[in-house]
Amino acid sequence: MDSNCITLTRFVLAEQKKAPGATGELTQLLNSVQTAVKVISSAVRKAGITQLFGTVGSTNVQGEEVKKLDVLANELFINMLKSSYTVALLISEENETVIEIETEKRGKYIVAFDPLDGSSNIDCLVSIGSIFAIWKKSDNSVPTLADGLKPGNEVVAAGYALYGSATMMVISIGSGVNGFMLDPTIGEFILTDKDMKIPQKGNIYSINEGNTHSWGEAIKEYINNKKDPAKGKPYSARYVGSMVADVHRTIKYGGIFMYPPTESAPNGKLRLLYECIPMAFIMTQAGGVASNGQIPILDIQPQKIHERSPIYLGSPDDVNEVLKTLQKYEKRQ
Ligand code: AHG
Ligand code: MN
Ligand code: MN
Repeated sequence: MDSNCITLTRFVLAEQKKAPGATGELTQLLNSVQTAVKVISSAVRKAGITQLFGTVGSTNVQGEEVKKLDVLANELFINMLKSSYTVALLISEENETVIEIETEKRGKYIVAFDPLDGSSNIDCLVSIGSIFAIWKKSDNSVPTLADGLKPGNEVVAAGYALYGSATMMVISIGSGVNGFMLDPTIGEFILTDKDMKIPQKGNIYSINEGNTHSWGEAIKEYINNKKDPAKGKPYSARYVGSMVADVHRTIKYGGIFMYPPTESAPNGKLRLLYECIPMAFIMTQAGGVASNGQIPILDIQPQKIHERSPIYLGSPDDVNEVLKTLQKYEKRQ
């Protein structure tokens, strides 16, 4: 046992100390996220099998049915963040409108989150995750919808939790990306992946290939090229169907992850505020590229809290290649 291990809390505290005027609120906020993630992780591992919860507000004294994981994850994020006294506004994939925090509990941060990403993988025990992005409100005024529509280039911190073969939290507070593995024996996230950097180029493409029929010509050409030995060593196809897992693999091994526009989803499927922006922030901080096909994801000005965006992210060489192919077809039109 390392008697001087770096926990996630210790790491964030040290980072905050470097920032002039830091109040420790971000550390407090990230602690509340950590708690939500630990409980979700325990639930995912079916701790206690049926008696999933003896903690927080979800103790089942009323004999209510045990909640489904995505609902439970959402309630955990909301309850933990609300009671951290650090947030003014919350945006969740699971809530149609923004959640305003009552005056007595209000802090200065805005958090957008996807409490449970990869819901379709829950029942077959394939990796799932949680995603979040954090912004800071410019003043102490009552939060408005506009406060919840800030672009990615104003994010102060973002991260994800991956409930995979181990539970890991990957976060960036604007100075690189660090990964922390949950040690279940002590209930702490320990720094294991210091200053994560994505390879310049990979050999994996990740896309839902069942949608081939409804892609634009550029994506058809790009993916065809990745499979054609005449165009170089063919890439491997990997697609989990949980963005967190697909993006985490992309950072670790390199390559490209995409959700392009399709006929039925002309803006792609993934949501800008709590899927694309946090992942683009992490990817960019890890030395990768994240684009909507035209501009960096982080430069998009959000218009609606649940808006979607096409996304292409991963190793610089791979993403730039797909962007070049998209441009080539755009010029032809
Ligand atoms: P969520 O479970 O939060 O709704 O997100 C699912 C998302 C994302 O995790 C994944 O990359 C994508 O949906 C997969 O979509 P397809 O099934 O259309 O490929
Ligand atoms: Mn999702
Ligand atoms: Mn979700």
